[in-house]
Amino acid sequence: RKAKASEGAAAKQKQLESYTQPAEGVLTTNQGLVVPDNHNSLKAGIRGPSLLEDFILREKITHFDHERIPERVVHARGAGAHGYFELTKSLSEYTRADFLQEPGLRTPVFVRFSTVAGSRGSADTVRDVRGFAVKFYTREGNYDLVGNNIPVFFIQDAMKFPDLIHAVKPEPHHEMPQAASAHDTFWDFASLMPETTHMLMWAMSDRAIPRSYRMMEGFGVHTFRFINARGASHFVKFHWKPKLGKHGLAWDEAQKIAGKDADFHRRDLWESIAQGNFPEWELGVQIIPEDKAQSFGFDLLDATKLIPEEMVPVTIVGRLVLNRNPENFFAETEQVAFHPGHVVPGIDFSNDPLLQGRLFSYTDTQLSRLGGPNFHELPINRGVCPFHNFQRDGMHRMTIPRGQVSYEPNSLATGSEFRVDGGQQGFQSHPEEMESPKIRRRSPSFDDHFSQATLFWNSQSPSEKDHIVAAFQFELSKVEVPAIRQRVVDNLAHVDAKLARKVAEPLGIGLPDAKAAAGRSGFRDVRVKLPIEASAP
Ligand code: HEM
Repeated sequence: RKAKASEGAAAKQKQLESYTQPAEGVLTTNQGLVVPDNHNSLKAGIRGPSLLEDFILREKITHFDHERIPERVVHARGAGAHGYFELTKSLSEYTRADFLQEPGLRTPVFVRFSTVAGSRGSADTVRDVRGFAVKFYTREGNYDLVGNNIPVFFIQDAMKFPDLIHAVKPEPHHEMPQAASAHDTFWDFASLMPETTHMLMWAMSDRAIPRSYRMMEGFGVHTFRFINARGASHFVKFHWKPKLGKHGLAWDEAQKIAGKDADFHRRDLWESIAQGNFPEWELGVQIIPEDKAQSFGFDLLDATKLIPEEMVPVTIVGRLVLNRNPENFFAETEQVAFHPGHVVPGIDFSNDPLLQGRLFSYTDTQLSRLGGPNFHELPINRGVCPFHNFQRDGMHRMTIPRGQVSYEPNSLATGSEFRVDGGQQGFQSHPEEMESPKIRRRSPSFDDHFSQATLFWNSQSPSEKDHIVAAFQFELSKVEVPAIRQRVVDNLAHVDAKLARKVAEPLGIGLPDAKAAAGRSGFRDVRVKLPIEASAP
């Protein structure tokens, strides 16, 4: 079993090695000509002008001129590592996904951690959500679990994502502030969108200033589906639990480190792996039978809600180990293309309207970020199983399809005859029955923006609560428009009256007024009764 396990994990490494450049040899041009002199351009005489003819100089400079590609529109700053996922408990009862059947099987992975708001050159330790994206190179194709380190999200519907990101990114007129959420546009948007409240509580907690990537949890956030070999479906939530436990920085520490070592988190990840202290997480799942899905009071399709572990325990089913640094940041960490729509048979989507929008967004953005439709052929993005289809051409095509035929059905193919699988092995979308009609609305429990925010607040220890209050104060102290500050504390009064007062008083903000918040257009305080009440540990 051991031999089989490491064979699985080595497959991707072997594939990547076949693409690496030799580390030594004679310097050549891209066409393979030996470069005679790498210091002097070709000139008309020793003191004369440079000649346009110098194709060696032109090639070198032209390539340099085009080194940059657009950074990710969000999650631009990140750090990646290779490793493996080892299944410790079979999930065959719930899913037919090949990599989740046999305990002991190791699947190679590439993981990228990131901040969301800052640009590629921003500091690591800012207050922000962290991305936690895992690409599993399974024997059935790539599966991407593209999650965050916070289990809920700011918004409920993909329609609001561009607004959210425009509000959190640097303001368009002066490109400030560069990487923090502490500015008027973000708090303006947040205060007018009470569905952000639950995630705001997490974002103001120590979760948003992790000590290390190795010490943070990860979450799939959305509800997904597992489909087993009999075609039966269960809902599932994914959790990554760090072996080193969860640890945050203090805010003051985080700000100082941002100034002294902007690379703090990527350095920590790189050095730990280089020293053989391999970061490790457990994979946990919360499994929800279809017939229980409506029993929680809140909607499993609402990404601003989590399922408390007291209601559905997390079962540990595997471990993730990061044991190899990339050879090259650009080729691997920058060019990797994650996508929540990369699934394998046995894993399917729910109708979460945030997830549904994501399913469109990732390939779409990568088409421009990675220059055309062939980025799946880049070494870091290739599956370890072969791919065959009749898609053809496009910018930067790397494979060479054979033969006359690039359509199906055909009777002419010789040597490139791909059958269509009769559906036995292939991906089958779960045949969920749909209720009509077409409608632009959300189910009523989506309006409960505060029950879980209060639950989170009540679950915090006194010092954690102090940190949350201080974070809100810091953020609001940077907001210039008084009405925005007032709206934020009015909203907070729906989470906890004491919290709202503590935030408001030292800043001279007017007394928080829950009624004022409730009177604003579009604002509703619907409460779903949860069967549990959290208290401080
Ligand atoms: C990256 C869109 C919500 C996690 C990205 C990128 C886009 C995007 C365009 C850049 C991808 C690239 O250039 O390769 C969206 C949209 C969302 C959404 C439209 C909502 C409708 C979320 C949520 C999560 C998430 C809820 C967490 C569960 C990530 C991560 C990355 C990312 C981790 C970085 C992946 C990497 O490391 O390359 N997102 N996102 N996003 N997103 Fe989202």
